[in-house]
Amino acid sequence: MNLTTYNILKMRVNNKHYLTVWMEGKTVYLIEQNLLPFKFQIYKSKNYKDSCVAIKTMIVRGAGAIGATAGFAMAQALIEAPEKNYLKFVEKAKREIEATRPTARNLFYATNRVFNAAKISKQEGIKIAQDIAEENIKDAKKIGMFGNKLIKDGYNIETHCNAGWLGFVDYGSALSPIYVANNEGKKIFVYVDETRPRSQGARLTAWELKNENIPHAILPDNAGAYLMSNGKIDMMIVGADRIASNGDVANKIGTFEKAIIAQKFNVPFYVAAPCSTFDLDCKTGNDIIIEQRSEDEVLYQTGLTKNGNIEKILVCSPGSKAINPAFDVTPADYITGIITEKGIIKPNIDEIEKIFK
Ligand code: MRU
Repeated sequence: MNLTTYNILKMRVNNKHYLTVWMEGKTVYLIEQNLLPFKFQIYKSKNYKDSCVAIKTMIVRGAGAIGATAGFAMAQALIEAPEKNYLKFVEKAKREIEATRPTARNLFYATNRVFNAAKISKQEGIKIAQDIAEENIKDAKKIGMFGNKLIKDGYNIETHCNAGWLGFVDYGSALSPIYVANNEGKKIFVYVDETRPRSQGARLTAWELKNENIPHAILPDNAGAYLMSNGKIDMMIVGADRIASNGDVANKIGTFEKAIIAQKFNVPFYVAAPCSTFDLDCKTGNDIIIEQRSEDEVLYQTGLTKNGNIEKILVCSPGSKAINPAFDVTPADYITGIITEKGIIKPNIDEIEKIFK
């Protein structure tokens, strides 16, 4: 497949191209996603511990971007490590990086690949971290090209959470086909689930689509059934954080509900993800660890005040408790297809094994 034949632009902010994450020397640069859409700022991570904090606090988030950052954090650890017994230092760093967030498969994919390369030499480990980030861009672009074939002119597409450019190094997974379709001149409209509690849809996906001038509207999380029952949605495309070998998909909390509704109203439900998100060691979705996050994310919201300050306020009954599972698992039966960089496959063990051969 010739990547250059498809007209898809690199992602830009104020007409300047940015990657979500990149590494120069021993510094890792990250778009500070907690400040978006109110403020565009670059976070500089000077060492692997800074990068761990960035992943844990969601300065960087989204499986693909987390994976690239984890690879770079490993490269930072290699640079920081003493010459003698450097692998011992890096092994400890690897454990710390892997303890930041449990669900996104790409994180572990990256730490393992860099660690294995580091057994050859420090330089080889650092090179592989850069390779992972570059592959991430190429895979996302190919996902866009395959997924675009599913999108017809005039389609209304719903998406959940942010699986766009900000969730990868560039282009994204679920949004990549939308960017290609838009670049080809197809008239599309995107319904963006707001995605409580962190509002990745309302804040990040909406911000990306606005930057690209793609018509869209933010949808309350509970409005999907209303729209689908009224024939307003032609297809759904979501991302994935980890995919089991039977095709069960872990993705942002609320994805499973959307898939049930989509099946009820015959709306095709697609997942977009690269092979680096598949975990063949997980036989089914039951083997996937679901991250439980702080109740504060449910109880409080952060927003822009009239004075232009970013502030955190309580939005729930004072003193009430909350639970905050970050992901859920959509069983394969609810998924129409998985858009990968190797093509669109059915969510079953035979088709998944085929793309890994
Ligand atoms: O908790 P996050 O923001 O890191 O969640 C990850 C996601 O953005 C989604 O689940 C996404 O749909 C898949 S990863 C691009």
